[in-house]
Amino acid sequence: RQPRPLAGKRVLITAGPTHEPIDPVRYIANRSSGKQGFAIAAAAQAAGADVTLVSGPVELRDPAGVTVIRVESARDMLHRVQAALPADIAIFAAAVADWRVANEGEQKLKKTSAGMPPLQLVENPDILATISKLTDKRPPLVIGFAAETEHLIDNAKAKIARKGCDWIVANDVSPATGVMGGDRNTVHLLTRDDKDTGVDGIQVESWPVMTKEQVAAELVAKIA
Ligand code: C5P
Repeated sequence: RQPRPLAGKRVLITAGPTHEPIDPVRYIANRSSGKQGFAIAAAAQAAGADVTLVSGPVELRDPAGVTVIRVESARDMLHRVQAALPADIAIFAAAVADWRVANEGEQKLKKTSAGMPPLQLVENPDILATISKLTDKRPPLVIGFAAETEHLIDNAKAKIARKGCDWIVANDVSPATGVMGGDRNTVHLLTRDDKDTGVDGIQVESWPVMTKEQVAAELVAKIA
């Protein structure tokens, strides 16, 4: 029998990209595959947790024993995350679109001689920051991800402070790493115990290159 260190714990995870509609047939998206978030969901479930996974559009099967909620946009994702609270641990692995189209077309945009349609963007809600800053239902452990192509650790430290989360899993997503869409990941785990400290109180652990399943298992072991 496997040890079940997260038995009785509720774990909420976001994964995948979001799709932000331009018109009924087009959207803005990104290259997130959802693999890392799905692997964490499976590892947490295997550790005995009661897992809810809120995922954007991905081509992955539901992990066994996990409650999977499929969403499209960042706003849908935020609403489903809020509805899934309370949780003991929240892990925000989704690559949420920073912006959505303000002037979403009700009909398919047509090519006209008047030129290209202007797309106005507005900022999406930040799900990680919103949940980290809750006063009543804030999960005791809130973990974010930081996908960066430069100044990885410094940007991730600033992100912990700015978003108000407890830990950040930072990964280098420069195209040469093949992380985005790939099966392996090289991550740094940034932790802080006291959320009132600034960037000075943050510990950094750099992990060797691993599969996304191994990263998930290590992260779940840390959480336990
Ligand atoms: O600011 P940035 O997008 O790099 O932050 C990444 C972290 O914030 C990830 O944990 C991601 O899931 C979360 N995030 C979010 N909602 C957003 C943007 C990012 O939850 N709108």
